[in-house]
Amino acid sequence: MTRSIVTMRGTAVAALGVACMLAAWGAGAQDGGRGDLMHGEQVYTQWCAACHAAGPNMPGTQALEAKYNGATAAVLVERADLPPELVKVIVRSGVSVMPPFRKTEISDADLEALADYIVTTARSHGAAQ
Ligand code: HEC
Repeated sequence: MTRSIVTMRGTAVAALGVACMLAAWGAGAQDGGRGDLMHGEQVYTQWCAACHAAGPNMPGTQALEAKYNGATAAVLVERADLPPELVKVIVRSGVSVMPPFRKTEISDADLEALADYIVTTARSHGAAQ
């Protein structure tokens, strides 16, 4: 009994999440380029943030901290020197413990929006400093 209630709540929450994402996507798509950036942020949050966000226990951020040793930002969305082409190549090929992502996971259109989001966010981050 308790179990089925929990399952139902889970389904309702998941459905609500999808509805919110679709609403955000629709709203963003109406004002030109913003839609792509919002979509890129969703792709980033789903596939990259678990390793590349700021803070401790982030394998991507820690590896890049060690690799660059302060020469550039370790957090991906703060890297003003990261070319979008490199983001795309690395996402398809993977590097070290970072897995390659297939087109069934991140489509070419998703990847465009993702690279655009990372580079745009990083550039505005750099400009704000
Ligand atoms: C499982 C953890 C993990 C996930 C998920 C992950 N990465 Fe990484 N990523 C890493 C690690 C670790 C490195 C550093 C590898 C090394 O030692 O050079 C890295 C390196 C990179 C680099 C190279 C940066 C540089 O200057 O060398 C890029 C670009 C990158 N990741 C983008 C992404 C994007 C975009 C996503 C989401 C689609 C993503 N990563 C998902 C762990 C991850």
